[in-house]
Amino acid sequence: VRLAILASGRGSNLQAILDAIKAGVLDARIAGVFSDRPDALALQRVPEALRWSRTPKSCGGREAFDAVLADAVAVCEPDWVVCVGYMRILGEAFVQRFAGKILNIHPSLLPKHKGLHTHQRALDDGDAEHGASLHFVDPELDGGAVIAQARVPVLPNDDADTLAARVLAVEHPLLLGVLQLAASGRLAERNGQATLDGQAL
Ligand code: GRF
Repeated sequence: VRLAILASGRGSNLQAILDAIKAGVLDARIAGVFSDRPDALALQRVPEALRWSRTPKSCGGREAFDAVLADAVAVCEPDWVVCVGYMRILGEAFVQRFAGKILNIHPSLLPKHKGLHTHQRALDDGDAEHGASLHFVDPELDGGAVIAQARVPVLPNDDADTLAARVLAVEHPLLLGVLQLAASGRLAERNGQATLDGQAL
């Protein structure tokens, strides 16, 4: 399967995908890496021919950016669009164009802690557990059907950084596990529900 990757940051999740493809444990190829930040480290992890970046400003605003991005993603004919640390909300037109094909990894146990600063918020709320969620993207922020989650304990001396590191360590295997299901054609979204082999998850 062909993967279009959307990333704004360092791209450790992208690197985990690249490593898994190289090791032969993920039957997929990267069709393109797309970023709203031309300086994103994630872009550097793939050959130049696979890199695409624009800023919303250079496109004349958020909506225009979304349309330009959608066109660029469509050109690489992805089977799946995978958001890994992509720090922008995808517009409704984008989501509809790739409906049922967009995945996002979010660093919290959804529906808890949608949005930003999830690790600090888990600490502030005194959560005993925290983690990451892999979900289908719908037009609501961090709102689509959850496919799988990975949990970690919150420890007494944690700060946002130690907690983020513990979550990141489980994010990578979570992402790869779900991408293996996606690559084998077993994963789908039906009526707002994630399904595996046609059965609701
Ligand atoms: C991850 O924690 C992801 O869940 C969040 O942003 C971080 C991105 O990490 N949305 P990386 O860029 O893949 O290293």
